[in-house]
Amino acid sequence: MDGYGLAKIILIGEHSVVYGHPAIAIPFHSLRSEVVLTPNPTFMVESKYYNGPLDEATHDLRGIVALIRKIAKEYSNVPSVIVSIRSNIPEQSGLGSSASVAKAIIHAFDSHFQLGLDNSAYFDLLSISENIYHENASGIDATTVINERALLYQKPHMTPIKVNLDGYLVVFHSKTKSTTREAVMHVQAHPHRDIHINGLGSISANAQWALTNNNIDLLAAMFNASHSHLKALGISTPVLEELRDLILANGALGVKITGGGMGGSLIALFANEESATKAQKVLKDFPSWTINIRDIK
Ligand code: PMV
Repeated sequence: MDGYGLAKIILIGEHSVVYGHPAIAIPFHSLRSEVVLTPNPTFMVESKYYNGPLDEATHDLRGIVALIRKIAKEYSNVPSVIVSIRSNIPEQSGLGSSASVAKAIIHAFDSHFQLGLDNSAYFDLLSISENIYHENASGIDATTVINERALLYQKPHMTPIKVNLDGYLVVFHSKTKSTTREAVMHVQAHPHRDIHINGLGSISANAQWALTNNNIDLLAAMFNASHSHLKALGISTPVLEELRDLILANGALGVKITGGGMGGSLIALFANEESATKAQKVLKDFPSWTINIRDIK
């Protein structure tokens, strides 16, 4: 393996982060992308969705194609290669699969050809594909997968956060997909956009306090308040609402959409491992992953 990229979870502040409000995100170590580079007479891509010449890659890969072309143009010591991509992050799930794959590609070129890229060069390259896949990307996904730590992000700055909370976070995948681009455009056109975006924006400070002062009940209340605003913005779906009700009925203290919404994933807070595992067992039809919040760095 030449390069990897982690998934990410937005704890609070998706959508409002696009409008300049602060948001909190963490790296998600359970899911990742990996890239291997093999010297070849021409540039090729190998992936789950497409295998063939870079120049003929499908529309879905347009962000990655632009990224690889940019690296080849910018760094003259980079020869043509086969870029083999593997990822176990469900795509269009709000878990940052596109940023993770792009980070893995940049990391692969950086480590294989000793490009000596710093975080700001990673961010600039990552923005090429993110801006193609997303409408008006805030940069939170890129910043989180590059820095691999819990952080508060307010365009364009990030501040590390020291998490101090007893509890468990469970990611539930709704088995429905969403495109972030569509969700962002939907919010942009919403008649009550500013009320809810400002409401969402004001939640981050309380959530940060709760996360760093071991107050799970406050964080859960902020999860629920945040979900209400996202729902009012039309970002939830009947499937997400049904799943959310089930998770709450099975012991979660707070549940919200994470990422773009309109499908994808929910995150749920549980007081302890036992209640988290119990809910996962009942809802075993939905893929889920548990994080001990004490392990979040
Ligand atoms: O759906 P994801 O995982 O790409 O997250 C998108 C987060 C948004 O705030 C909706 C968009 C952004 O660029 O910040």
